[in-house]
Amino acid sequence: MLKDFFIGLSQNQLLNSAAKKYGLKLGAQNVVAGTNVEETIQSIKELNAHGISCTVDNLGEFVFKEEEATEAKGQILSVIEAIHTHGVDAHISLKPSQLGLDIDYQFCLENLREIVSKASGYGIFVNFDMEDHARLQLSFDLLDELSKDYDNIGTVIQAYFFRAEEDLEQYKNFRLRIVKGAYKETAEVAYQDKQEIDENYIKLIEWHLLNGKFTSIATHDHNVINHVKQFVKEHNISNDKFEFQMLYGFRKDMQLQLAKEGYNFCTYVPFGQDWYGYFMRRLAERPQNLNLVVKQVFNKKTNTMIGLAAGAFVLGRVSKKK
Ligand code: FDA
Repeated sequence: MLKDFFIGLSQNQLLNSAAKKYGLKLGAQNVVAGTNVEETIQSIKELNAHGISCTVDNLGEFVFKEEEATEAKGQILSVIEAIHTHGVDAHISLKPSQLGLDIDYQFCLENLREIVSKASGYGIFVNFDMEDHARLQLSFDLLDELSKDYDNIGTVIQAYFFRAEEDLEQYKNFRLRIVKGAYKETAEVAYQDKQEIDENYIKLIEWHLLNGKFTSIATHDHNVINHVKQFVKEHNISNDKFEFQMLYGFRKDMQLQLAKEGYNFCTYVPFGQDWYGYFMRRLAERPQNLNLVVKQVFNKKTNTMIGLAAGAFVLGRVSKKK
């Protein structure tokens, strides 16, 4: 129920617009690397110093105006330029909806083409993050179209979808990030039960490790990570065939430890002002992440619309339990 509440908040465009005006608030700054490219490059350098590579995401959602999509494209092009100039170990993650998928398919395709082309010139990989089911097939279509001309692209397979296994097989020659899935999806298209999702997740990872190109295992779940460590050992899968990924700011000790143990490790580094939807999905995934909000509210007396909404809900839940 708490998950549904935060997923609902993550999709609220009014709150999203309001949140943008306040900069990094509510504890979001703990999980967002910076507000601009310079700060973000600094964070990447710090992670690189620990042997961790990065995938950089210019935060943004609910883009329904062409000028906003064009602005987002400009930001991503600047990040690509900065990655090249600073010689940092990083690539790009982007969301098709930020580049105009909800406005016009062709417009989005051309925006993506410009980004992928520039990145290709510098040998930088671009990952198409996967959003909700409504955008799933369109995102694969974009990937199909661009893969005719470029090979520096890949995408994400979300294990909660019934179709995930089929997609995985179809795209096995792409570099793929495999995740459990972060959006609220209906029982018609996706598993609802956590155990079923976890089982499918493991199944997809194992299949891709044995049959696919390069596998990014993106999870904070230590059980999955331990399982993968054992699996690759048993099947003699070398470390250069896969990497672990986690989000910036989460399980920092484990991120460092995995890198120290010699595994390829990549941190997903989000930056920018448009933190709201991203942050609400993190609260949906793990209600304990509310710690980040609570600390912020009490330490700095932050009092925004979102803080009140989240706080009132949590207090309501706590008092009901009593
Ligand atoms: P999950 O939330 O299922 O947790 C399992 C267990 O792990 C918990 O019960 C707890 O024991 C432990 N745990 C988890 N987080 C912890 C923490 N912070 N501290 C301590 N213990 C913790 N989704 C999507 O739909 N499209 C996408 O493109 C992406 N991209 C993406 C990139 C990267 C790098 C990551 C890590 C994730 C995504 N996701 C995503 C999100 C993904 O689908 C999923 O929602 C979250 O990763 C949450 O699921 P987990 O597998 O991390 O563990």
